[in-house]
Amino acid sequence: MTMNSKPTVLVTRRLPQAVEQRLQRDYDARLNTHDEVYSSDQLLELASGATAIIPCHTERLNADVIARLPASVRAICSFSVGYDHIDLAAAKKRGILVTNTPDVLSNATAEIAILLMLGAARRAHEGARTLRSNTWADWSAIGQLGIEVTGKRLGIIGMGRVGLVMAQRARGFDMEIHYYNRHRLSPDLEAGAVFHEDLRDLLPQSQFLSIHCPATPQTHHLLNAERIALLPDDAVVVNTARGAVVDDDALIAALTSGKLFAAGLDVFNGEPNIDPRYRELDNTFLLPHIGSATRETRDAMGFRALDNLDAIMAGHEPGDRLA
Ligand code: DGY
Repeated sequence: MTMNSKPTVLVTRRLPQAVEQRLQRDYDARLNTHDEVYSSDQLLELASGATAIIPCHTERLNADVIARLPASVRAICSFSVGYDHIDLAAAKKRGILVTNTPDVLSNATAEIAILLMLGAARRAHEGARTLRSNTWADWSAIGQLGIEVTGKRLGIIGMGRVGLVMAQRARGFDMEIHYYNRHRLSPDLEAGAVFHEDLRDLLPQSQFLSIHCPATPQTHHLLNAERIALLPDDAVVVNTARGAVVDDDALIAALTSGKLFAAGLDVFNGEPNIDPRYRELDNTFLLPHIGSATRETRDAMGFRALDNLDAIMAGHEPGDRLA
């Protein structure tokens, strides 16, 4: 606490202006003006005396870091829906409340999944490169042929908030929706989508496969060589969830051999140092983890994180409590 007795909040990354303004109005906000990614040691040092931390997925709050947080820290209100960067059990053990920002980024993320699906299927990266490198010789009836998305079968892994919006948008392309989820959805949410209790049954149906499940120990490398082999030949894989759900060696081998037609990826293992082989492949359409990167969504994520923080500071139950 400072002299004005506003609680001190460590904000690990630069956030949208309106969010930082609200933070400065209501808290003694320790902002990251240069938007550098803090090391764990820097974060621990900067957290000294802070009541709460607002991290992004770029900070790893593992058990060791959480154990070393100053005793003053009562809450971690992540500016993200994903929470694989936070050890919830370790936070719970220390009595630190953890929240995330669900719902507000479902539309933006599903938009990027559609962009990746179209971009990968229609070889957008190769076309764009031809123009930018000024190597477009002429129109061709046989050049740069992609795969049509309209009317195809889309398999969705993880029919949560984002998966549902993805299904809705894909119906605009007359796609037949199949899904694999921990639980079958109610008929109104399913809206005709075909549920597969076993992932091995979903995969052979998936001419397009879009991943929307969280990264957990259970989903680590869920898409491996054995499962890719079950996809139809020429399938297109889209990932807007987390890189950890995919085994890079297996995906790259299937893209190289021609088993898969293409992949559209927004998330990677080891970001930002992605497996360099992805860059060498023409049949990858790659984006730098921008699923939630719209002005509207980033504001909404910040306000949602602050709503959670405000509730905790007022002694109320936050809307998005994880631990
Ligand atoms: C999320 O909110 O989890 C996005 O991936 C950005 O961190």
